[in-house]
Amino acid sequence: MGGKVFLGKNLIWVMILLGDLHGYKSCIEKERNALWELKTYMVSSSGWGLDFLTWTNDTKSDCCRWEGIKCNRTSRRVMGLSLGKPLFLDSSLLNLSLLHPFDDVRSLDLSDSGFDGLFDDVEGYTSLRRLRNLEILDFSSNQLNNSIFPFLNAATSLTTIFLGYNKMDGSFPVRELNNLTILELLDLSGNSFNGSISVRAEFPHLKMLKALNLNDNGFSSPMELQELKYLPNLEVLGLAYLEFDGPIPIEVVCKMKNLQELDLGGNNFVGQIPLCLGSLNKLRLLDLSSNQLVGNLPSNFGSLKSLEYISLLDNNFTGLFSLNPLTNLTKLKVLKLSSTSDMVQVETESTWQPKFQLSVVVLQFCSLEKVPSFLVDQKKLWLVDLSSNKISGNIPTWLLENNPELEVLQLNNNSFTIFKMPTIVHSLMVLDFSANDISGLFPDNIGCALPNMLHMNGSDNGFQGNFP
Ligand SMILES: *[C@@H]1O[C@H](CO)[C@@H](O)[C@H](O)[C@H]1NC(C)=O
Ligand SMILES: *[C@@H]1O[C@H](CO)[C@@H](O)[C@H](O)[C@H]1NC(C)=O
Ligand SMILES: *[C@@H]1O[C@H](CO)[C@@H](O)[C@H](O)[C@H]1NC(C)=O
Ligand SMILES: *[C@@H]1O[C@H](CO)[C@@H](O)[C@H](O)[C@H]1NC(C)=O
Ligand SMILES: *[C@@H]1O[C@H](CO)[C@@H](O)[C@H](O)[C@H]1NC(C)=O
Ligand SMILES: *[C@@H]1O[C@H](CO)[C@@H](O)[C@H](O)[C@H]1NC(C)=O
Ligand SMILES: *[C@@H]1O[C@H](CO)[C@@H](O)[C@H](O)[C@H]1NC(C)=O
Ligand SMILES: *[C@@H]1O[C@H](CO)[C@@H](O)[C@H](O)[C@H]1NC(C)=O
Ligand SMILES: *[C@@H]1O[C@H](CO)[C@@H](O)[C@H](O)[C@H]1NC(C)=O
Ligand SMILES: *[C@@H]1O[C@H](CO)[C@@H](O)[C@H](O)[C@H]1NC(C)=O
Repeated sequence: MGGKVFLGKNLIWVMILLGDLHGYKSCIEKERNALWELKTYMVSSSGWGLDFLTWTNDTKSDCCRWEGIKCNRTSRRVMGLSLGKPLFLDSSLLNLSLLHPFDDVRSLDLSDSGFDGLFDDVEGYTSLRRLRNLEILDFSSNQLNNSIFPFLNAATSLTTIFLGYNKMDGSFPVRELNNLTILELLDLSGNSFNGSISVRAEFPHLKMLKALNLNDNGFSSPMELQELKYLPNLEVLGLAYLEFDGPIPIEVVCKMKNLQELDLGGNNFVGQIPLCLGSLNKLRLLDLSSNQLVGNLPSNFGSLKSLEYISLLDNNFTGLFSLNPLTNLTKLKVLKLSSTSDMVQVETESTWQPKFQLSVVVLQFCSLEKVPSFLVDQKKLWLVDLSSNKISGNIPTWLLENNPELEVLQLNNNSFTIFKMPTIVHSLMVLDFSANDISGLFPDNIGCALPNMLHMNGSDNGFQGNFP
């Protein structure tokens, strides 16, 4: 009898412990009710589908296990709240008071939720001050305009703000956000900011800023970006798809010696690749795609030892283009190059032995006549795109044999004549060998050799006979 009680007690302890480990201790009631109130508000004000989230008013339900909710394991307080991306009918104002019960929240993801404004009919602009520990706020892809800045400026614990793809415009909001002194990341991409970034005296407030994304805005004059020089410590800078009517202020960019990620794509950037980019030796990512660059890779790109990703897609390179400066970049994983015309000829001497192992290689419109021989030594490829070249002979199924992780192989618009299935079974998912000169019977063992295939395009060839 006594033994049984003892066993029973232990069992209970084991269950409590297990429950704790697995997060069965329930969330706090105040927050569960507040989540239900938030859902009810969203449903009534914007016509969201009632079934958009698993959130319920069942008092036995543990809100820490609800969709979009992350709790602190010990306190069971809500630390992360994400509304998901529900279908909504109308845009609506977000009543910020509804967030006050979550005063331990660190991260709020309210992206893509149909909000066109914020309000708090009790506390006004100071509303977000209540969320003392809020670090990350994601409002991207709503319809918010500049009227939200006074609310944001009260959330002084913020380190990270995503405001991409909203309806903001005018000048860069330095003054508006001047109380956010520990801000590290600011994403303003996809808005219509066009005024100058000229409040130099106020930049000290943003001195902690490490990442700034201004992609896809309306800055029309490069002069407007000159003041970026007061942010020399940036590590990540997005200046892609700006509607410049002059050259990019490259000398300002090249002074940011801590840059790790730089996106200058889509800017009608003309001339040679700027030499000074080769001095940014902390760069991990460099995107120069969709510009009108000519010439060759500067030889000092050989000192970009941290480079992992380089995109030179969709530029105006002509003539011989050498990849030689990239030879010793041991960390390089992604290499993308193409020319708007097929005027570029990528040099691929058979003796070239680069020291990197790529996972992605894209060489389109490069006038290649054979598969570049350096690819023979690549063993970790995940995506290979050699489309729109002039490569003839056998479909390089050896790429499958060498690269067990290969998922995508694009060989369309070349002059391949022979397709022999690999003798191995491979997990390739996408294969495009359309618009080539392959004749004969369609390989009939394709289903056995490539059982994971999701998309295959073999059209515009000279196959005969039955489709297996
Ligand atoms: C829970 O919500 C449903 C649907 O809105 C409602 O019909 C029900 O009365 C609520 N139950 C409680 C206990 O509030
Ligand atoms: C979780 O809450 C406890 C107790 O309030 C706190 O000490 C701890 O720092 C919190 N953990 C995290 C990851 O915030
Ligand atoms: C906003 O939410 C608060 C807290 O739930 C509530 O007291 C207030 O009435 C709401 N305001 C409006 C206009 O719905
Ligand atoms: C900005 O959004 C607020 C809230 O939706 C709205 O009242 C205001 O008219 C908008 N301002 C402009 C200039 O569109
Ligand atoms: C910004 O900081 C100033 C000075 O500390 C303060 O007076 C002001 O109320 C703050 N603004 C907001 C919106 O919190
Ligand atoms: C910014 O855009 C607005 C609206 O399109 C326009 O009225 C204004 O003149 C532009 N400002 C600058 C500096 O280009
Ligand atoms: C770059 O190529 C495009 C498309 O072929 C052409 O329209 C543009 O004028 C070229 N730019 C330069 C600077 O050569
Ligand atoms: C690569 O490194 C080797 C030896 O470490 C050196 O001889 C060669 O010049 C370097 N190549 C480039 C393009 O930097
Ligand atoms: C096919 O590749 C050639 C270059 O080899 C190019 O001129 C042509 O535009 C490409 N066709 C398509 C449809 O991309
Ligand atoms: C297949 O390839 C042909 C020729 O390259 C192209 O026109 C067609 O759009 C492709 N079909 C699909 C479904 O991708």
